[in-house]
Amino acid sequence: MSALERDFGPSGLPWTIETPRLVLRRPELADAERYAQLLNNFAVAGNLARVPLPFTVDDTREWLPEKTRTLNPREFGFAITTPQDGLIGNVGFHEGRFGPDIGYWLGEPYWGQGYMTEAVIAAIKWFFDNTDADILYSGVFHFNMASLAIQFKLGFVETGRSQIFCVARDREIEHIDTELSREDFEASIA
Ligand SMILES: CC(C)(COP(=O)(O)OP(=O)(O)OC[C@H]1O[C@@H](n2cnc3c(N)ncnc32)[C@H](O)[C@@H]1OP(=O)(O)O)[C@@H](O)C(=O)NCCC(=O)NCCS
Repeated sequence: MSALERDFGPSGLPWTIETPRLVLRRPELADAERYAQLLNNFAVAGNLARVPLPFTVDDTREWLPEKTRTLNPREFGFAITTPQDGLIGNVGFHEGRFGPDIGYWLGEPYWGQGYMTEAVIAAIKWFFDNTDADILYSGVFHFNMASLAIQFKLGFVETGRSQIFCVARDREIEHIDTELSREDFEASIA
């Protein structure tokens, strides 16, 4: 694969984004162990809907191969990396209950340094630049104030509450449903 194909892919989309402190890149099969290491932690998995505990390398291999080759920006996830530590988390898109949905997480050692705000801004800009979507959906479990703070900074608004099953907690949890319009995002970063 040429460097051009690696970075831009056959469809011409840029699959790598550089921010001041981060490189967001396409995941690779070689990332499987690092994903498992960071996700096998209740502090991370307990805030996500679909991550079982324990979370093993084999669990990673169930979803990673498709992410290494998809050309659909609505089903794409970026590995979040730093020059010092390599892979530290993930931010990605999938077709959710209402439409395109963003999800993200960082390994616990990397919290509280503004990394996710930086990564999510870059990923959402990429998403709106490369799709015709006008609304992006998301949300947080009701106790996740750090994640909600990120979303509100970027223009997401609360649209309601629902119950979502959290696999790591093995029960339904109240979920704050949110959405972001293209216009509100552009205003938030202007
Ligand atoms: C939630 C998570 C993504 C945050 O990442 P992060 O890099 O620490 O976030 P940032 O530092 O960019 O921003 C966090 C913001 O929340 C604020 N915050 C943190 N704890 C807070 C709290 N208890 N109440 C209100 N705001 C809070 C911070 O002050 C910051 O806002 P600021 O930049 O205006 O000061 C990270 O903790 C994580 O991955 N957690 C586990 C998985 C997860 O929760 N994923 C999201 C699921 S919806």
